[in-house]
Amino acid sequence: MTAVLVAHAGKNGGTREIAEVISEELRALGHHVDTRDAADVADVTPYSAVVVGSALYYSRWRPSAVRLLQLHADALLERHVWLFHSGPCGPGAGLAHVSLPANVALLAARIDAERTTTFGGRLDPATAHGLLARLMARGPRAGDFRDWDLIRKWARDIGRRVTTEVSL
Ligand SMILES: Cc1cc2nc3c(=O)[nH]c(=O)nc-3n(C[C@H](O)[C@H](O)[C@H](O)COP(=O)(O)O)c2cc1C
Repeated sequence: MTAVLVAHAGKNGGTREIAEVISEELRALGHHVDTRDAADVADVTPYSAVVVGSALYYSRWRPSAVRLLQLHADALLERHVWLFHSGPCGPGAGLAHVSLPANVALLAARIDAERTTTFGGRLDPATAHGLLARLMARGPRAGDFRDWDLIRKWARDIGRRVTTEVSL
């Protein structure tokens, strides 16, 4: 059994739910998984593999996810790390690939992370705070564009690679 950390950062719970589904798939493959808000991660050294996911807001990662990568860069370099972000909403959301924000791309290179995956996001009018959020949540981008089959498949691929590539 391999210990895996799945850390998430968002505002309205959509990214946390993605992290929970990823964790569920990893557990089903026999791994020991801790699912944590990125802000609550004090130490990554108990884990052999780490997944970090952030919601995208204004083309940026959430500060707590960036801080996690910054503060633990040395330890993460010695571990297998996968990154994802969630954001695109509306028609075509499932096809979108969003590049990492420049500050996160630098950190990803520093810790030698796997290529980042983009998942669709969720824009819920009920949780839209602020003028722009309310406007966005009224148009065609409102709704849940998270592709659970894709998310589960990505998680299972990671789970298998953790089994075969990560030393215990
Ligand atoms: C004000 C605002 C700005 C956003 N900016 C982006 C963006 O730049 N790129 C993107 O792909 N998604 C963007 N989104 C969509 C969010 O990333 C999406 O709703 C995501 O699922 C939110 O995750 P959370 O529920 O974990 O906070 C934005 C949403 C809002 C409300």
